[in-house]
Amino acid sequence: MTPGTRPMIAGNWKMHGLAADGLALARAVAAGAPSGPELVVCPPATLVAALAAALAGTPVAVGGQDCHAAAKGAHTGDIAAPMLADAGARFVILGHSERRAGYRETDPTVRAKAEAAIAAGLTPIVCVGEPEDDRLLGRAEEVVADQLAGSLPPGFGAVGGVVAYEPVWAIGTGRTPTEADIAAMHAMIRARLVAAFPGPGAMLRILYGGSVKPSNAKAILALPNVDGALVGGASLVAADFLAIAAAAG
Ligand code: 13P
Repeated sequence: MTPGTRPMIAGNWKMHGLAADGLALARAVAAGAPSGPELVVCPPATLVAALAAALAGTPVAVGGQDCHAAAKGAHTGDIAAPMLADAGARFVILGHSERRAGYRETDPTVRAKAEAAIAAGLTPIVCVGEPEDDRLLGRAEEVVADQLAGSLPPGFGAVGGVVAYEPVWAIGTGRTPTEADIAAMHAMIRARLVAAFPGPGAMLRILYGGSVKPSNAKAILALPNVDGALVGGASLVAADFLAIAAAAG
């Protein structure tokens, strides 16, 4: 944890959730929310408005999982940042590895989306993380540094943008880097944020993501420069998500 920051525990529901179970999950999270960390749930786009309404007046915020770089236009099937904001979202996840891999999103694309999010008043949660090959070749920090340099727009620091470090090989696999490797990567990210955004960079939140669960959350969240977690699978079970939130203390 970075002294003076408020930890964030964000749930990325990915492509899970119909109205009934999504609302029940969100309500259960709100009912059990601890007072310490900032909690965010990022449901599928179809549920953003309903969850924002259901969670109004609770400490749980809503985020989208992606947005287009344009504010509007002929982009069939896409969702613009002002639409997410209009539906009640306050955050948006951008550059998740599933989008980088599945939709060939590049660093410049992610950066343009982050600019659009900021223009719409959303706080971007920008994901970075190395594939396993790069970790094995000793290039993990270099790859992530390049992603940071390419993906974060100039306005990122002033709006309190959030970075999520998610090693691709740790997502949904039950595997995590060693605590030393997480700490080293987060220290590198901190140094880059401080250099890129003098002032706010020292306090911007850096989340860890990839197989975070109640059993490993406490140890991961205790590491220096780990200011929260971006949780996938475990965010679909209210008790697990709340146990992770409780570990953020
Ligand atoms: P898991 O927690 O299921 O590994 O997913 C992590 C993730 O991709 C969050 O964005």
